Amino acid sequence: MKILVIGAGAIGGEIIKECERLEPVERCYVLDRHPQKAKKLYGNLNKVVVIKESDEPFANVDLVVEAASQEAVIEYAPQALKIGADLMIMSIGALVDEKLRNEIFTLAEEKSAKVYLPSGAVCGIDGVTSAAVTDIEEITLETRKPPAALKDSEYVRSNEIDLESLEEETVLYHGSAAEAVKKFPKNVNVAATLSLSGIGFERTKVKIICDPSATSNSHKIKLKGSAGELVCSSYNAPSPDNPGTSYLAALSAISSVRRICGNIWIGF
Ligand SMILES: NC(=O)c1ccc[n+]([C@@H]2O[C@H](COP(=O)([O-])OP(=O)(O)OC[C@H]3O[C@@H](n4cnc5c(N)ncnc54)[C@H](O)[C@@H]3O)[C@@H](O)[C@H]2O)c1
Repeated sequence: MKILVIGAGAIGGEIIKECERLEPVERCYVLDRHPQKAKKLYGNLNKVVVIKESDEPFANVDLVVEAASQEAVIEYAPQALKIGADLMIMSIGALVDEKLRNEIFTLAEEKSAKVYLPSGAVCGIDGVTSAAVTDIEEITLETRKPPAALKDSEYVRSNEIDLESLEEETVLYHGSAAEAVKKFPKNVNVAATLSLSGIGFERTKVKIICDPSATSNSHKIKLKGSAGELVCSSYNAPSPDNPGTSYLAALSAISSVRRICGNIWIGF
């Protein structure tokens, strides 16, 4: 199997190292805005070839793994599917854009290609997709973050909220996922993954809580429907290479690549 990894940062780096270990992977091409940095970090691995955009990145590739940015999804996802490669997307927030989402999903159908959207920084997506087979009454994503993790959000800046002065937990936002991703772009991947797996951006509710006593970013999914009630929480450790990214998201990328390359799929 030949894999192209776009983005050699916190998540992409973990995927590249896993590709080196996985027996079915023959070659791991790496494309990053900063090829020299990628070469320095991973150029010594046996299966890795660091390429440039001008090198026709998709020639002979079976799977393209995006672990870069929303811009990279816009730029590369349709191209990858057009040549019939399968595609794994980590910057799932890009799929909030309905036009891009439809383009990607339609191309996948036309080309009989697979699009993989890993669970990333949340857990419980397996239960949500199962529950979504029948009726879901409500789904809420409750995200709790310390003040430092929220200080750069558009909502906090435009409303001049002084997060450092908060003495107790405060709900900053409670509303649709569609609105939440505009007000809190850093939450976009998790809100998008949950919305796409369940009942969409309008019906999925998001609550953003600033908690001065929180020591990590945490996500709680609550679902009610014909399947029953589901409550799922994660208290995420930061990724060693990028404190803004949950380590769970990088691990989810690794486990997804393992499943794609393997024969046994558990709990998907
Ligand atoms: N699905 C989830 O739950 C989840 C969780 C965390 C992060 N993410 C997303 O995954 C992506 C990667 O996260 P990360 O922590 O590894 O980021 P990072 O900043 O550590 O690394 C990103 C890398 O991609 C490269 N890059 C960015 N845009 C590019 C482009 N257009 N072309 C080529 N290279 C490009 C950068 O040079 C950098 O090396 C981000 O978009 C992030 O929002 C998703």
